[in-house]
Amino acid sequence: MDIFFEIHKDIPREGPGDNQSTKKAYEILKEIPSNPNILDIGCGPGMQTIELAKHTDGNIYALDTQKQFLDRLNENAQENKVNHKIKTIQGSMFNLGEYFEENELDLIWSEEAIFIIGFEEGLKKWKPFLKKDGYLVVSEVSWIEENIPKEIKDFWESDYPSIHHIEGNIELVKKCGYKLIDKFIIPESSWWDHYYIHLEKRISILREIHSDEDEWISRLDNTQKEIEMYRKYSKYYGYVFYIMQR
Ligand SMILES: C[S@@+](CC[C@H](N)C(=O)[O-])C[C@H]1O[C@@H](n2cnc3c(N)ncnc32)[C@H](O)[C@@H]1O
Repeated sequence: MDIFFEIHKDIPREGPGDNQSTKKAYEILKEIPSNPNILDIGCGPGMQTIELAKHTDGNIYALDTQKQFLDRLNENAQENKVNHKIKTIQGSMFNLGEYFEENELDLIWSEEAIFIIGFEEGLKKWKPFLKKDGYLVVSEVSWIEENIPKEIKDFWESDYPSIHHIEGNIELVKKCGYKLIDKFIIPESSWWDHYYIHLEKRISILREIHSDEDEWISRLDNTQKEIEMYRKYSKYYGYVFYIMQR
């Protein structure tokens, strides 16, 4: 049994986010064509893919390495009657050239997934696939306060050493040749409503079932620790939408 997928079973999202933030970011894209070609990278179970589909008449390619997530996305898309707009692709964000031509996409979208390739690397590697003036919209965990306490600084630096302040990421946006159109921090409720509340329920169920299995307990403790860190230090870090144009 795969411990990760058991912990994350049937959770509505695979990271912090909410439909209002997805809609808000999409509505900032004033020059998007009416039938855009959109790629959602690291789509997971696809809550944001479906929300995007409700606001566009274009095609959305939803890319993820995990078949389980793509299957859930397809089911949810059918329930929401937007399946005709979405095509899932099982593949990797590291090899976009296997699925897309250069200058093909009007918009690349990625919520809580660019950290996998790295913010700067993603900006560089994905850019050739955007049309001239195409948009890149990503959400990325970022420091949002000064004087960060040591405990949370150490936690993130061991987990994701290239976490930056918002200003640091804006520098990278410019360095990689994009224009920053806008940015905003998603609300704290988006960490809880579709993600941490559900994870905590799974943790308590699985703790009972696997109470004498060390590997399980260690994985559940690690997931709980991440949640506790946010409970204690949410003032210092958040997911930030960066809305960029090539
Ligand atoms: C933190 S989750 C975010 C999922 C989704 N965007 C959401 O907000 O619910 C990151 C996603 O990236 C996917 N992923 C991991 N490595 C990947 C890769 N190399 N290429 C594409 N997707 C990848 C994972 O399977 C997972 O669905």
